[in-house]
Formats: sequence, C-alpha cells, structure tokens
Amino acid sequence: MKKTLIALCALAVGGMSLSACGSSEGADDGSITMGFAQVGAESGWRTANTTSIQESAKEAGIDLKFSDAQQKQENQIKSIRSYIQQKVDVIAFSPVVETGWDAVLQEAKRAKIPVVLTDRAVDTEDTSLYVTFIGSDFVEEGEKAGQWLVDNADASDVDKDGAINVVELQGTTGSAPAIDRKKGFEDKISADSKIKITASQTGDFTRDGGKQVMEAFLQSNPKIDVVYAHNDDMGLGAIEAIKAAGKKPGTDIKIITVDAVKDGMTALAAGEINYIVECSPLLGPQLMDVAKKVAAGEEVPDRIVTEETTFTPEQAAEALPDRKY
Ligand code: AHR
Repeated sequence: MKKTLIALCALAVGGMSLSACGSSEGADDGSITMGFAQVGAESGWRTANTTSIQESAKEAGIDLKFSDAQQKQENQIKSIRSYIQQKVDVIAFSPVVETGWDAVLQEAKRAKIPVVLTDRAVDTEDTSLYVTFIGSDFVEEGEKAGQWLVDNADASDVDKDGAINVVELQGTTGSAPAIDRKKGFEDKISADSKIKITASQTGDFTRDGGKQVMEAFLQSNPKIDVVYAHNDDMGLGAIEAIKAAGKKPGTDIKIITVDAVKDGMTALAAGEINYIVECSPLLGPQLMDVAKKVAAGEEVPDRIVTEETTFTPEQAAEALPDRKY
C-alpha cells in the first residue's frame, strides 16, 4: 500500500532523535497514514485527548486509523500489530501501562515504522524502540499537588494524634501517571510529618471507580481530612460518595485532583474541590507536527514536555468561560 522508506534508527544525538537514516518518505503521493492506539474512554481527559488527536489529524491532512483499547494492554498490542500489517507510516499510542511493550515495539522497528509515544511513557531500556515521547511530567504534577497540601495543611485538620489523614485514589495500576503522581506527591508531603496517607487504592481513572473506592474508604476510615485523586473524574466520584455520607466536599474533606477538565474546574469553582493540577490533553497538534517531521526524515527532540499550570477556586472561576474541554 505504501512505499515507506522510513528507517527507524532513532539515534539519540544530543537530545534529538534522528527519525530516519538517509532518505525517508511516506506514500508516493506524499500522504501520511498514522495508526493511533488510544487507551480508552475512561475519563473526560481522555475524551478531550481523542478529540484533539482526531481534529488535528484532519487539519494536518493525515489519514488517521484510530482504535480504542478499553484500558486493556492486549487490545493495544493487537491494534499496533494490525497497524504494522497495514504498513502505516507512523504508529502513535498512549500506553495503558508502562511495562511489557518491548516485543511489539521490536516488531514495529523491524517493519521500519517509527513509533511516537503520546501522553504516557513506556518502561524500557531500549529507547531506540520509539522516536519521541510527547506528554506531561507526571512526577512534577504529583509534586505540585503535594506542595499545595504542605503549604495549605490546616490546623483544623490535625487530629488528636497530630495527623492530617490523606486518602489517595490512584489511577490505573501500572500506568505511568499513577506511578509518577504517587511518587511526586509522597516526595513533597514527606516534608511535613503531620501529613499521612492512611489509605490508597486504584479507582482506574474512572468516576465510578473513584466513587466506589471512596465509599469504602469512608466506611473504614474514621477520620479523613484530604482526598488526593490522580484525576478529576475520580475526584468527582469521591464528591458523590462524600455527599452521600452526609459530609461537605471541599470543606469537611479537602480534595486535590489532577487534569483540570471542565467538570473538575466547575467543582473547583464551586468550592467542592480545593486545588487542581493541570494535565493538558491537547496533544494532537504536536503529535501531527512530529509525525510530519518523522515522515520527512527530520530530527525531532527525544522528549517533548507539555506546559501546564495549577488552579485555585478563584482561578478556575476565571478560566471556566474559555475552557475548551
Ligand atoms: O494519562 C493521563 C491520564 O489518563 C489523565 O490524567 C486521566 O484523566 C486519564 O485517564
């Protein structure tokens, strides 16, 4: 179908990856086909990310083959294998978990199809298996969440034992954002011995998951001062559970989340969430730009970090009217 001469050398040279050795081109007519293996549709963030990728592909004139893995690694691997068979020009994917990708990425490399990671990283020693990774610094996101708590730990939250009890709603087990957001948060709160994580469990980045785990936490933990949710959706699920337990989210129990999607920002502006660390899903334009460069054999940086901010309730109220997702 395609005369893909992209040689996947992916040599790391001074922070740049050479996407091709010598000449490189896409189809004879210059068009580019991208196979994108999406994680799923687990959250508002993911929906916005999918829209960004689909719209950007259209705008860039890139033919996009898109699959939804429903949060299952085996589905993503199947999709990647099918893209290899279809001889697409570029494969891009957001790996649901960090490990277990080497075999399929070797297959892509043997087929000389460059791979671009978006949103989430893979844990591999062989960095020649992908050209670049476009996405957030999840450790930094966790650090921002932890630092806010250290700076805003309230004397009224301290119990008789001198502790501020935090329950953590983790993202998908084994995923880069769940691992890194936990680490960054723990690193920062270690500065204040009053702050303790008393329970931590996965809610799989979904609203339902967050609600169910929070219901169980409320039943088994007599004093919860703070919820740290690895995304807005789980935080929103926790809000439902807290209200059902007769408590006031944001007041009786403080809530910190990550993402800053519209529903999260609305809850923040209403005082039901106290702080949100932004994680931008709008990766589509950068991805298409990289895909074009890679197909043209141009150099791309081996890491492209997304710029992000944080929001207080006041800042959320101000930002909401223009919020696109
Ligand atoms: O990988 C990014 C994370 O995945 C987002 O924070 C979360 O909402 C999504 O499901």
